Amino acid sequence: MRKILVNILFLSIIFTNIVIAQTKDYYQEKYRPQFHFTPEKGWMNDPNGLVYYAGEYHLFYQHYPDKTVWGPMHWGHAVSKDLIHWELLPIALFPDSLGYIFSGSIVVDEKNTSGFQTGKEKPLVAIFTYHDMEKEKAGRTDRESQGIAYSLDKGRTWTKYKGNPVIPNKGDVDFRDPKVFWHELSQRWVMPLAVGQHLELFTSPNLKDWTFASSFGENDGSHGGVWECPDFFPIKASDGTEKWILIQNIGRGAVNGGSGTQYFVGHFDGKTFKNDNPPSTTLWLDYGADNYAGVTWFNAPNQDRIYIGWMSNWDDYAQSTPSSTWRSGMTVPRKLTLYKSAEGYKLAQSPVNQINTLRNSGKMIGKIEINSELEIDSQHIYKELIIDFDLEKSDATEIGFVLKNAKNEQLVFGYDKIKKEVFIDRTRSGISTFSEKFSKIHSAPMTAKNLKIRALIDNASIEVFVNDGKIALTDLFFPTEYFNKTTLYTKNGKAVLRSGMIYGLKRIWK
Ligand code: FRU
Repeated sequence: MRKILVNILFLSIIFTNIVIAQTKDYYQEKYRPQFHFTPEKGWMNDPNGLVYYAGEYHLFYQHYPDKTVWGPMHWGHAVSKDLIHWELLPIALFPDSLGYIFSGSIVVDEKNTSGFQTGKEKPLVAIFTYHDMEKEKAGRTDRESQGIAYSLDKGRTWTKYKGNPVIPNKGDVDFRDPKVFWHELSQRWVMPLAVGQHLELFTSPNLKDWTFASSFGENDGSHGGVWECPDFFPIKASDGTEKWILIQNIGRGAVNGGSGTQYFVGHFDGKTFKNDNPPSTTLWLDYGADNYAGVTWFNAPNQDRIYIGWMSNWDDYAQSTPSSTWRSGMTVPRKLTLYKSAEGYKLAQSPVNQINTLRNSGKMIGKIEINSELEIDSQHIYKELIIDFDLEKSDATEIGFVLKNAKNEQLVFGYDKIKKEVFIDRTRSGISTFSEKFSKIHSAPMTAKNLKIRALIDNASIEVFVNDGKIALTDLFFPTEYFNKTTLYTKNGKAVLRSGMIYGLKRIWK
């Protein structure tokens, strides 16, 4: 008995040491985001299979566990109760004889239309693209097809459907990224699929048999590159108007270079999407360089539209950013809303409210006039800034804030009154030798009379939401020493600050 007790004591000491050893450096490598989702190790790109079920938000993601560059694609998996803290789960889907598992979505098959249900849990059905590398190497164009898999245990284990592929390829090289949803009016599943540089819609009664319904976009929006990762959903403005939003990621030629996300606003009758705007209109979801392949959660509570994107730029440098054991993070989850602008309905976005639970006690900056520069913080590395400038009372030609370190590196966010645009300038923000496309200024047109800024700053990223999220910019940066100082600045005149708040943020990894 005594020996057993001693053994238990000994084991518990070892165990405690292991736990302590893990906690100390866990998720603390250089540039590892502290309040954003990142995979524990290896490569990550697109968010996949975003679904809310039984109290959990699932986040699957394009994942290559063995290297920090793109490779054979798996679906990594994590769950969260609050969209902020994540529990890492084992890999959900592995490549098989039909190919790598490319991007896709998950639905809750509430009515068991698929017939997969056997017990009390509703089937979660994943719809994804198979990418066959053998066919690609052989130069065949029919390399991509759509497959399905299901889980009857809240997403913990997955069975691939024996009848895969459910949509074979007719010869389109790029034929991928199904984002399925249930269309109540027609009592059908609808699948938006990116095909080359347009969108195709398919419908199905059971997730297994799919019929082509329509195509959209051959002449609409931006066509600088391949269309990827669509999302398609209805959303209501506060005036009661409902619109259908088609999110369409585009691999190249986005507003500020490389990959980005455009969207369309219109109407859907169960078969066809009709664009409200002239075909030449392009609406951009984010004006930064580092928000790609974002889509929204299926079945989120209160019919909220919660969006998350991959914080990198596929076309420009995704595989060469400085990082060690892992590569890439997601944006913070953002709630999308619809509002009426002078040019028609548009999307706004703001971080989900749960993010506020990460705030440490804040520091208030009162009503004040700024001439040239004012330091407002010299401590926090990951933080949130909320700043409200009165533009009508300000006569400066440029107003904004700067993140700085002792090495003279800096990242600037500003409003240029002459050009009428907001911008992030990362040209002096630190390491940029990994890509000649990195050291740039990213801007967005802005004509409003107010400049209300909310910025979420992690140790290597910034997400700025301007005027209640009507403009968003997401950018990475890699200072040689983390930015710990923040100043407000003006050029050629004064700025009137109505109010400001600065919060340090808690890290999410334990
Ligand atoms: C977008 C994308 C998708 C594809 C996946 C492959 O980043 O190219 O179109 O399914 O990544 O990893």
